[in-house]
Amino acid sequence: MGLADTIMGLLAGRSWRVASQAAAQASEPLEFPAQITLGGDKIDLRPMTGYDRAVMLDFARSLPPHDLLFLRRDITQPEVVEDWARDLQEDRYVTIVALRGTQIVGYATVASDGLAWTRHVAELRVLVSPSMRGLQLGRILTEQAFAIARQRGVRKMIAQMTLDQRAAMRVFSHIGFEREARLRNQLIDRDGQLHDLQIMSLDVDEFRAKIDLMTISAQHEFV
Ligand SMILES: CC(C)(COP(=O)(O)OP(=O)(O)OC[C@H]1O[C@@H](n2cnc3c(N)ncnc32)[C@H](O)[C@@H]1OP(=O)(O)O)[C@@H](O)C(=O)NCCC(=O)NCCS
Repeated sequence: MGLADTIMGLLAGRSWRVASQAAAQASEPLEFPAQITLGGDKIDLRPMTGYDRAVMLDFARSLPPHDLLFLRRDITQPEVVEDWARDLQEDRYVTIVALRGTQIVGYATVASDGLAWTRHVAELRVLVSPSMRGLQLGRILTEQAFAIARQRGVRKMIAQMTLDQRAAMRVFSHIGFEREARLRNQLIDRDGQLHDLQIMSLDVDEFRAKIDLMTISAQHEFV
C-alpha cells in the first residue's frame, strides 16, 4: 500500500470515529420521567430533587470508596448532599437519577460552578452502582447529561476520573471527549494512597466544526 493510500485510510478511520461520536450525542434529552429496561429490570430516569437526599446517601454509602475519588466532595456525608440539593434548586446543577423501584442505581450530573469566567464550562459526572454496570446505563446517563449540557448552552464539557476507570474513559470517548490533562498525585484516598487524575474534555464548537468540515469534504467527494 502506498503512502497516499495509508493517509486516506487513516482519514477514513478518523472520519468514521467522529461520525460515530456525533451519532452517539443524543440531540435532545429524553422527556422525563422516562422508563428503560436493562438486564430485565425496569429503570426510571428523572431529575433529582431535594426529596431524594436520603436515597442518594444510601446509594453513595453503598459504593466502593475508590469510585467516589473523582468527585471533589464526599457524597457519603449528609451536609454534602444538602449542598448538592441547594445547587439543584439554584440551577447550578442538573442531576438525572436512575431508579430501580425506590433505590437509586446511578446518576449523571451536569455541574457548573456559576463563576463569571468559566460560565461556559460544565463538568459531567456519572456514577453507576456496581450491580448495574456493563448494562449500558453509564452510557445512557452520559449521553443524557451531554444532551442536557448542550441544551443549557454549555460550550466546553469536562469529566474527571482516576486513570484506572477504563469504563469511564470509554463512555466519554464514545461521545467525542478527548484526554486533555493528567494531574499527577492529585487525589488522596482514605488510606493515604495517591492517585493521578485524568481530565477529559469536549469543546462543543470545535466538535461541530469538525463535523461541518467532514460534511463539506464528503460533499466534494460526491460532486
Ligand atoms: C463509568 C461508569 C459510569 C460506567 O458505567 P456502566 O453502566 O458500567 O457503563 P456501560 O455499561 O454503559 O459501559 C460503558 C463502556 O465501558 C466498557 N467497560 C465497562 N467496564 C469496563 C472495564 N472495566 N474496562 C474497560 N471497558 C469497560 C463497556 O464495554 C462499554 O463499552 P462498549 O459500549 O463500547 O461496549 C461506571 O463504571 C462507574 O460508575 N464508575 C465509577 C465512577 C466513575 O469513574 N465515573 C466517571 C467519572 S465522571
